[in-house]
Amino acid sequence: MGLRSTLSTTAYVLSFLILCNEVNKAYKKLSQQEKKLTPLPPKSRGIESRIGNTPLIEIKSLLRKTGCKIYAKLELSNPAGSSKDRVALAIIRAAETQGLIRPYHGDVIFEGTSGSTGISFAVLCNALGYTAHICLPDDTSPEKLLLLESLGAEVEKVKPASIIDPNQYVNAAKRGAEAINNDPNDPRRAIFANQFENDFNWRIHYTTTGPEILKQFSDDEKGVDVFISGSGTGGTIAGVGRALKEYNEDTKIILADPQGSGLANRINYGVLYDSVEKEGTRRRHQVDTLVEGIGLNRLTWNFSKAIPYIDEAVKVTDEQALKMARYICLNDGLFWGSSSAINCVAAVQTALKYGPGQTIVLVACDSGERHMSKFHAAAIKHGLCELEDIIQGTD
Ligand SMILES: Cc1ncc(COP(=O)(O)O)c(C=O)c1O
Repeated sequence: MGLRSTLSTTAYVLSFLILCNEVNKAYKKLSQQEKKLTPLPPKSRGIESRIGNTPLIEIKSLLRKTGCKIYAKLELSNPAGSSKDRVALAIIRAAETQGLIRPYHGDVIFEGTSGSTGISFAVLCNALGYTAHICLPDDTSPEKLLLLESLGAEVEKVKPASIIDPNQYVNAAKRGAEAINNDPNDPRRAIFANQFENDFNWRIHYTTTGPEILKQFSDDEKGVDVFISGSGTGGTIAGVGRALKEYNEDTKIILADPQGSGLANRINYGVLYDSVEKEGTRRRHQVDTLVEGIGLNRLTWNFSKAIPYIDEAVKVTDEQALKMARYICLNDGLFWGSSSAINCVAAVQTALKYGPGQTIVLVACDSGERHMSKFHAAAIKHGLCELEDIIQGTD
């Protein structure tokens, strides 16, 4: 009895000592990791100071399957959740410099958008002393409307219409700004941000996003072989494309285009066209796809600035984008929006076309949380597909 009790006490003491030793080892490992902290950004002032300098990460599961290093520029880590923060800040600063708007005078920034740009303007207007007035189609998803309203933006809903209709949401935004500026009794000033036609859009990507990518590859002798982006306004692909091409003309710039958009046809065959036009099957006034933020059936100023730098375009179906969104979510923990998924499909297709060893950079534009009710609700229905199954069926 006495012996058994002594043995169990000894066993208890021994397990306690082993546990202490393990805890001590874990603690030491943690302190070593803390010492290895990568350089942090310095202290800064205001949310606007945290725009840009976004991270670049490698998508591990895609390397395993393609033999190519595929990196994502995490534009979704900007403070208001997308690359549009860069554009909104650039447009505001340019308008201030030109004396078109003054902070804390009740001045208003109008934009016609159902997407990320409205959110960036809403956030930055709060931070910089302006009012954001966002015009959008009345079929915009309820979560986006609620988000804009929660951010304090003035939201004006209009009937979905084509760009030639004076009541289309972009035209409504233009009219709103003109009404304030033309009213002699209104002391406020207003601007129409006009992201599609605004020259500061592609320029901010040319002077920041592109050079950031080059800097992130400065320790990599080989550099970037391919850059892939969708086009909404065209600002990202124009600015980054030009910066990368000027650095190395061999870098391929590839447009990833969703179904229903005519831009891919414009690049590959010189004509802005999508097959739904021919078949008369268009269901919406805009691009007929579940993917939001990219794809268009008209030529904009910012896209025209991209055309000289784009080497080829890859068309991606909704089905492929849905499956890819699921694939990177379940394999890599990357819960991204629809345009990022399109870019990943185009990246894999490009990797397979040009073979292993390529270094490919794509843009991760926004988080999956902005695409829950339409895109991810549909993506959930797909199990974990093989990459080969996703790629099959590409035009
Ligand atoms: C989610 C998302 N991805 C990509 C883009 C494309 O960016 P750009 O307008 O620079 O072509 C946009 C543009 O609105 C977007 O909202």
